[in-house]
Amino acid sequence: MKELRITFEPSGRAVYVLPGTKLLEAAGRAGITLDTPCGGRGTCGKCRVRVRRGSTGPAPLPGRALSAEDIAAGYRLACQSAADSECVVEIPEESLFEHRPQVLMTDSGHSTEPDPLVARKTFQLQPPDQDDAASDLDRLLGAVGPDIRVPVSLLREIPRFLRANNWGGTAVLSDHTLVGLEPGKAAHELLAVAFDLGTTTIVGTLLDLRSGRERAVASCLNAQIPFGDDVISRIMRIRERAGSLSELQQAAAGSMNRLIDEMILTAGSRRSDILEISVAGNSTMQQILCGCDPSPLGEVPFVQAFTSPQEIPASELGISVHPGARAFIFPQIGGFVGGDTVAGMLAAALDCCDEPVLFIDIGTNGEIVLAHQGRFLAASTAAGPAFEGARIRQGMRAAAGAIEKVMIDGDVVFNVIGNVKPGGLCGTALIDTAAELLRVGALDPTGRILRADETPHLPDAVRRRLVTDGDETRFVLVPAKASAAGDAICLWQHDIRELQLASGAIRAGARILMKQAGVTPCDLGAVLLAGAFGNFIRRNHAQRIGMLPPVPCHRIRFIGNAASLGAKLVLLSRAQRVRALGLARASAHVDLSRDTQFQTEFAEAMLFPEPGAAPCDSQAAG
Ligand code: FES
Repeated sequence: MKELRITFEPSGRAVYVLPGTKLLEAAGRAGITLDTPCGGRGTCGKCRVRVRRGSTGPAPLPGRALSAEDIAAGYRLACQSAADSECVVEIPEESLFEHRPQVLMTDSGHSTEPDPLVARKTFQLQPPDQDDAASDLDRLLGAVGPDIRVPVSLLREIPRFLRANNWGGTAVLSDHTLVGLEPGKAAHELLAVAFDLGTTTIVGTLLDLRSGRERAVASCLNAQIPFGDDVISRIMRIRERAGSLSELQQAAAGSMNRLIDEMILTAGSRRSDILEISVAGNSTMQQILCGCDPSPLGEVPFVQAFTSPQEIPASELGISVHPGARAFIFPQIGGFVGGDTVAGMLAAALDCCDEPVLFIDIGTNGEIVLAHQGRFLAASTAAGPAFEGARIRQGMRAAAGAIEKVMIDGDVVFNVIGNVKPGGLCGTALIDTAAELLRVGALDPTGRILRADETPHLPDAVRRRLVTDGDETRFVLVPAKASAAGDAICLWQHDIRELQLASGAIRAGARILMKQAGVTPCDLGAVLLAGAFGNFIRRNHAQRIGMLPPVPCHRIRFIGNAASLGAKLVLLSRAQRVRALGLARASAHVDLSRDTQFQTEFAEAMLFPEPGAAPCDSQAAG
């Protein structure tokens, strides 16, 4: 099947998709997360896009979400419209999920302007005379605020600064503390950087704190990767080799500095105008960045060095920004549930949910939070590596050459990222293939790939792909001649076992949390999927393999990189920072390794659900 190029404006990002792919999914593939409060039911109208070139189907009908004029002007609902041809699609800013930080929502649901903790305040003082011999400090505080704390380093600076600058200048303030004095008026920008500090990838966002707008976004691989590709191997490295903690700390800080370089170049800004940074990372990443030994996290009872939020001079972390800038490190919940989860909970507004909500963030680890009646149960599972292509025999990250979508319709139809020859399969293709094999009866609930002679009901084109060597059967997705490396690309029995482990861990973790809270899948008002990977999962396929609970599909919503969004929110608003602290305080860590039911649940969750389980059938639940 010929793939279609979909180009999104104004970013210019383009993806290749199969005909019939919803524009919402294509946007997700391009890394663009649209706002979808109705869960893609076509009722809220928030996912509006404008098709500038090309055609989509089905033809929309005028209604509350789109007027006849909108339709005539090319507007479509991304959740309802599928590409019929190559398209150029404009994404209005207000349709972006991340548009929301510019109009922040308070607890009461009211919008508010950005209210950052940092500020630049211009002052002009009267010089002292015989009638007014107030101290230099009192004179300054009279202009910038009486409650401002002044560190001794700046106290020493004030007399010289005032006299050298004709008693005027600009005070740089950070949450009621003077952090700098600058000559002249406050003509410079007020910037901050939000970091999502992942085990594998670090994402930085440069924010204009006055407007709330993003000035630049950059990402890179975490330079800690050569020390081990998961948190446990990095903890082991720190335990076993003296000096490793500092090496890993510097590696992370170095990556963050490089991202800052890239972003200020893009935005044409100055490092010295970055007055604050925020960091949302998992427990291990946050501790290493703060220079705290994470070794106790590597053994029972998995103790964190801190759970409270930390505010540390950025210079002490080796991050090169304004010399007075501070780093806000997110509060943590417990064990491996760290600041990125709290940031994600904030972005998802879990504290505003009226109904129970399940939040799942799939990264290198999988974190699960159940929000119920203002309380939050949080657990971490080792779910990620399979979905990132690791431990899958021909797995790869979701990059050019990765098969990312698979359908079986008479034969195998697949989509490859970048429209190049396939080189392997990424996590979504793994889920798709397993779900499709289950659907057509080529995979049994125990996870065994059936032999060709056991599947006479299959079309020949599909049955031929079941190749048995000895005891093991594999499913050939791409024959050797059509692959990039000249080797057939297959789904192996071993891959299915890895998938069962990963999806079973999420399923069992979610079930334990729901049991503890006395909640069934039918009670869930929403299942929120965070993390880049979550964006690309086909919801029905994830449900078919049992990874997601059997709620109606529209209740499953993608919320993009929630940790990044949470990290931005705390920079833009004091109120959001208070909410982040409240979320962490109201959360309880559930250590699945100590839960007596976990092993039983996990063993059960390793089996794929029987077909046809009705949504919210409590017998088949979770
Ligand atoms: S109309 Fe609500 S997400 Fe598309």
